[in-house]
Amino acid sequence: MAQLNLFDSLPANLISNTKLPTNKKLSTNIFTNHYPIHRWYNFIAGFSPEFVSFCIKEAKLNCDDVVIDPFSGLGTTLVEANYHNVFSIGFEAHPFFYDISQAKIFPTSDIQQVKYLENLLLSLQPYTGSFQEIWSEDALKFLTKLVSEDNLALLASCLEIESKCSQENKSLFRLIVSKVLEKTSLSQTDGIYKAPTTLKKSISFYDSVSIVCKQIYEDVEKLKYDFTPKAKLNFGSSENMELVENESCSLCITSPPYLNNFDFAEMTRMELYFWRYAGSWREITEKVRRRLIVNTTTAPTDLKRNQEFFSSTLSTSFKLKYLDYIIAELFNERKIRPGKKDYYLLIYPYFAQMQNVIRELHRILRSGSNLHLIVSDAALYGVYIPAHEILSQLMIDNGFQIINIENMRKRGERWLLKKRTGSSKLGEYHIHAKRI
Ligand SMILES: C[S@@+](CC[C@H](N)C(=O)[O-])C[C@H]1O[C@@H](n2cnc3c(N)ncnc32)[C@H](O)[C@@H]1O
Repeated sequence: MAQLNLFDSLPANLISNTKLPTNKKLSTNIFTNHYPIHRWYNFIAGFSPEFVSFCIKEAKLNCDDVVIDPFSGLGTTLVEANYHNVFSIGFEAHPFFYDISQAKIFPTSDIQQVKYLENLLLSLQPYTGSFQEIWSEDALKFLTKLVSEDNLALLASCLEIESKCSQENKSLFRLIVSKVLEKTSLSQTDGIYKAPTTLKKSISFYDSVSIVCKQIYEDVEKLKYDFTPKAKLNFGSSENMELVENESCSLCITSPPYLNNFDFAEMTRMELYFWRYAGSWREITEKVRRRLIVNTTTAPTDLKRNQEFFSSTLSTSFKLKYLDYIIAELFNERKIRPGKKDYYLLIYPYFAQMQNVIRELHRILRSGSNLHLIVSDAALYGVYIPAHEILSQLMIDNGFQIINIENMRKRGERWLLKKRTGSSKLGEYHIHAKRI
């Protein structure tokens, strides 16, 4: 397999001066903060622009070819496809990710728009009304743990003035303010994860606005060359991609939710409350979590309990060979472990929903198209689950041929999974498949 030169992935005028390693595919987003536009907003679960670039180049696409990412997240695949001037389609079911990733996928080329938004924010006065008029009780309780009252008063004013933004500016406004929210937060952030108990230094509202806008200026300025995004982003679950025609795509680059890695609803609690997507934990479940692939024990109870339905969509031989022994072990562990986690209820839903996506990908990809998927295995209650192998089997059962499975890195390199037994085995894998 050819090695990627990281600097090949971007037009020369977009490359930052930072020295990056030159000989790795880099599955995760370790260096994403060095890349224009990608760096505007990214998170720990994103994969790297380098990886996407590598896959696009290797596919040797024609000018009318289309790249698809059924789990587009913060848009790494679509942004990179823009750089390579190829058409792309994304599906994202999380409303906050969908909203802000548009600012990256369809970036403004007008520096005056950024200036306007910066001036608007720098001239803001603190909100003088009652916070209770803006946020629900639960939201307010959470937000006041994370952000000082002074900063929150200014952030509240942002909500008031959002209506002054044109439709095309809204996504960028939301992205900038969300970044400012993150910077003003008193809590440690890792990507966009917020844990109210781990403290960090908060940056003032106005300083944060300047820092965030400066980065965007720099990138928009460099974008002055003829840049026309050929992307389409859809809001909704990729279990059903009926908007996409049969055999219309030529390459898939994606990374689905990993089994029990992130609860994408919980990790965005601050943003979901702040922007009023949801006002309570229950609403977060109903309006966000329910839309996503079932991959954590925090999934809606009725979905987790609907084992019969999910089981009925998977073949008996597949379940017998790959899933049933895992479910039995997880069920037994639950009896003796503290916490009484319902891990055993995640297995059928996760693989059944992933099968739906794989089947949809088979429908929309042309014969011979490459599929690149980054996924990690899992160890729940010490029970090892080779998710990469099980997903590969699902691909084979649904019309794909596996070309290669490569261990990209040990999970322990990024996350110290001290709390979990079996973690030494954990790794992140690149599955390279071909649609037959
Ligand atoms: C591992 S992240 C992908 C990150 C992405 N590669 C990036 O670089 O930003 C998985 C994404 O899948 C989304 N997701 C979960 N279930 C989904 C579904 N059923 N349909 C579409 N997107 C979904 C999550 O919200 C999350 O953004």
